[in-house]
Amino acid sequence: MKPSIGIREVAHHAGVSNATVSNVLNRPDVVAPATRQRVLASIAELGFVRNESARQLRAGRSRVIAYVVLDASNPFFTDVARGVESAAREAGFAVFLCNSASEGGREREYLELLHEQRVEGILITPVDAEVPGFAELLHRGTPVVLVDHSAQDGTCSVAVDDVLGGELAVTHLIETGHTRIAMVGGPFTIQQVRDRHAGALRAMANAGLPEANLTVLETTDLQVAEGRSAGERLVGLPSVRRPTAAFCANDLLALGLLQSMTQQGLKVPEDLAVVGYDDIEFAAAAAVPLTSVRQPRDQLGRTAARLLLEESEPDHEHRHVQFQPELVVRASTRVRGA
Ligand code: RIB
Repeated sequence: MKPSIGIREVAHHAGVSNATVSNVLNRPDVVAPATRQRVLASIAELGFVRNESARQLRAGRSRVIAYVVLDASNPFFTDVARGVESAAREAGFAVFLCNSASEGGREREYLELLHEQRVEGILITPVDAEVPGFAELLHRGTPVVLVDHSAQDGTCSVAVDDVLGGELAVTHLIETGHTRIAMVGGPFTIQQVRDRHAGALRAMANAGLPEANLTVLETTDLQVAEGRSAGERLVGLPSVRRPTAAFCANDLLALGLLQSMTQQGLKVPEDLAVVGYDDIEFAAAAAVPLTSVRQPRDQLGRTAARLLLEESEPDHEHRHVQFQPELVVRASTRVRGA
């Protein structure tokens, strides 16, 4: 096995001190250009590779942040992660993306590993922030920022006003003539689902409609298959109670519901108007372009990364940044002739 080449071997080869080699690696501006070139030539000739974990241990800091997402198959999170990566890269950091797949145990394993790896900071969209022990798991010395989730004591957070988002969606359905509306989403351990449901109830109350007119079809996750399953349940409801419109907690559920309507020979919006949430690219591209509540995903990601990197500043104060959602109306709710 080839002996590992360290700073000492490079220094000997270039005829300089270990400190000069370290300066070339970490503070090249303090080294004379001719010396710097000689050291770089030795590095190339010997095939020296910096030992990042050793550097990190010495410096006590890494150049990596992590983002633990709820569902890597959901374009919402990859869009947010793209914003995270852009802001992190501009600041000289790389991003580890971890997928909890909405499983608390997996999320816990990732958090423990990331603390051990001494990453610079952790962004996370929690599976369930109320679960006992989550706060202790979060606060172990590594800075943390919550994403797509509102405040927790002792951390920054970046989110969208999901209560307003739910209210915008259901108010739109009421204004287009619907009085019996389904809310498709779950599990309700996810704060974003609870908040969107609260907004939907607020819209019903504001319109003077009874809460019973909002039929909740709770789902086990927020993916397409559960949207299809909700479509079958919805069509199976007695016609006198069957909703004429549905608000889905995210676009993946709405796309599954659209698919189910088509498979059952029903038309959108004629037989069922449908609103989603996130406004991912597939929403506009759907067979029936989907009305959706837009979340500013790139801004969410960039802001979260910036807040995280500010955590190490001495005068940092935790902030809870909340963006406003925006209703984007498309064919899945548009009234004929409108
Ligand atoms: O984070 C929970 C949900 O909120 C995700 O499914 C995503 O779509 C966002 O809307």
